[in-house]
Amino acid sequence: MEREKFSSKFGALMVIIGSAVGLGNIWRFPYMVGANGGAAFILLYILFAVIICLPVMLAEISIGRKSRTNAFGGMYRLSGEKKFWKGASLLYLVTPCLITFFYCVIGGMTIEFFFRSFGLNIPSGPWWTLLWTLLFLGCNAVIIMGGVKDGIERSSKIMMPMLFVIIVLMALRSITLPSSTEATTGALDGVKFLFRPDFSKITAQTAIAALGQAFFSLSLGSGVLMTYGSYVERHYNVRTISWQIVLSDMGFAIIAGIAVIPAVFALKADPAAVLSDNMDSALVFEILPEVFPMMPLGGVLQPLFFFALFLAALTSSISQFEVPVAAVMNDGKVSRKKASLILLAVFTVGCTICSLVPKTISIFDAIASNWLLPIGGVLAVIFIGWFYSKEEFRSELSSGDLYPTGNRLFGFVLLLIKYIAPLGVLAIFLSKIFLTR
Ligand code: TRP
Repeated sequence: MEREKFSSKFGALMVIIGSAVGLGNIWRFPYMVGANGGAAFILLYILFAVIICLPVMLAEISIGRKSRTNAFGGMYRLSGEKKFWKGASLLYLVTPCLITFFYCVIGGMTIEFFFRSFGLNIPSGPWWTLLWTLLFLGCNAVIIMGGVKDGIERSSKIMMPMLFVIIVLMALRSITLPSSTEATTGALDGVKFLFRPDFSKITAQTAIAALGQAFFSLSLGSGVLMTYGSYVERHYNVRTISWQIVLSDMGFAIIAGIAVIPAVFALKADPAAVLSDNMDSALVFEILPEVFPMMPLGGVLQPLFFFALFLAALTSSISQFEVPVAAVMNDGKVSRKKASLILLAVFTVGCTICSLVPKTISIFDAIASNWLLPIGGVLAVIFIGWFYSKEEFRSELSSGDLYPTGNRLFGFVLLLIKYIAPLGVLAIFLSKIFLTR
């Protein structure tokens, strides 16, 4: 059977940005910033996105597009079928599963809050959480079973622009909010917190959190971009696509930060405590519902926002779902439907655990984001940098000779891929292990 492809460049871009932009930007980024000291964290995040994540992204997309197979088999095929790379690629089966387990719980919350925004009196509790989670998981399964193109590509093209407009409105409202009677700070203090770096806040802990956030937000290190890369046409420019993904993803995250953090400073008595206490909970789900009633047309925008957030979450979670499905389809030689059902069973078990034992959410998140994703990304750059033909890689980066990669640019990319990215990750890991206060 011929391998599925995205139907247009715009479609491919929206799908990949759809995978990148999700709860990581709107739910995770604001509380990571809050808990890790504000602007200093953001600067580290941007630095890591450019010097570590961008090279990882080029490596992952190239591996997928060149090998035209799934994440589990990509490096194996390109290495001339060396067993080691197959074993190492097992990571790309484990990590997306672990992330899906907790991601779907938060995804379920977007559905819950969509219904709540109509003022419905919905009961809460672990079993209700489980219900919303499984509903969200079910939506994933339906799209995945339907194949790549129609569901994912179409919904991403409509919803991503819509989400963008709404989140910009929220950000404007957040920075102009008057202080509530209980608050002693104002929205502008929140803006300062976001943009005025205090370098004394940088610790090994902040660094590893920023690295994890960059990988998580860009969907790197778990095989997503290898899998999606294999659906990308050869005549698109990988270098341009990569930049566009990184910039859009950063833009979304920072705007979401502006939508949430200044609102906390304007509305809450002790913003620092609210921010640092929210490590495993839902800052966005607590703060934004307080902001909506204070804005013109808030009653209409609130359900729209949660609907758009639901779709943003969905376009991200299907990318994690797709990685093991593609692997089981190819390697297990089963149909897409059967592969999806097998994984649906696995995910149901994991998601049930995360719904009923909320503590597991932050544990799985920390293991996957702070450790497994960077390791998965380093594996890809090490493969390309040290075990793969430079000519082949250069030709992949240049789409044959459609978009020639100049000597200087290629030398720089190789420097990042061979040395900077792997050593950077290693340094951060070591500092985390040895320097943790
Ligand atoms: N990047 C997505 C977000 O920001 C989440 C995501 C999708 C992801 N696929 C991934 C995270 C793969 C890590 C690995 O919400």
